Amino acid sequence: MLNIAVMVSGGGTNLQALLDAEKAGGLGGGRIVCVIASKENVGALRRAEAFSVPGEVCRRTAFSCEEEYENALFAILDKYNIDLIVLAGFLSILSKRVTERYANRIINIHPALIPSFCGKGYYGLKVHEAALAAGVKVTGATVHFVNEIPDGGAIIAQKAVYIEPDDTPETLQRRVMEQAEWILLPQVVRQFCQGQIRIVDNKTYITEEKQDV
Ligand code: GRF
Repeated sequence: MLNIAVMVSGGGTNLQALLDAEKAGGLGGGRIVCVIASKENVGALRRAEAFSVPGEVCRRTAFSCEEEYENALFAILDKYNIDLIVLAGFLSILSKRVTERYANRIINIHPALIPSFCGKGYYGLKVHEAALAAGVKVTGATVHFVNEIPDGGAIIAQKAVYIEPDDTPETLQRRVMEQAEWILLPQVVRQFCQGQIRIVDNKTYITEEKQDV
């Protein structure tokens, strides 16, 4: 049984997909034991509460330096004995000290097909605005391991979504969530919890799902 922390900054629809998957027995034995928000009053904290999952707030600006913030974050992660951190719409960039302590144990969902439309500054609607501005016909979502380079860790899974001629950033964002993000993230968390993800030379390989006996 792996203990999962989900880190959030916003509405939390991806968190919701994970909570629903856990309830349906779809996280491969993993359980969400806390939700950590980057600020107070985000919608994701209310979703956690509705599922009786403890919510914590760790706000970077509440600390005088990066190291103090990291220490506070580590204290929360230690308190819940966390094995896997899932960034689900978490807007801060985690420092190397954090990504190294949890090397290959932090995953993030990004709403584009990495290496397109990713890296510093590509978050929220900006990602979809950039895809539409580039005129690409296909976009999607990517789940990847997190290292100190924004959106730069090994790719674990991707799902493509077609762009429609009359798409706006908002309609595209919604379709990418519905058709890709909410499916892909619980799937990868399940694979992680079942020990199916292997990483070699910054590339991942998914081994076959273990059958229940
Ligand atoms: C999602 O598009 C996710 O891919 C990105 O931030 C957004 C979060 O949405 N990293 P939500 O808070 O899960 O609704």
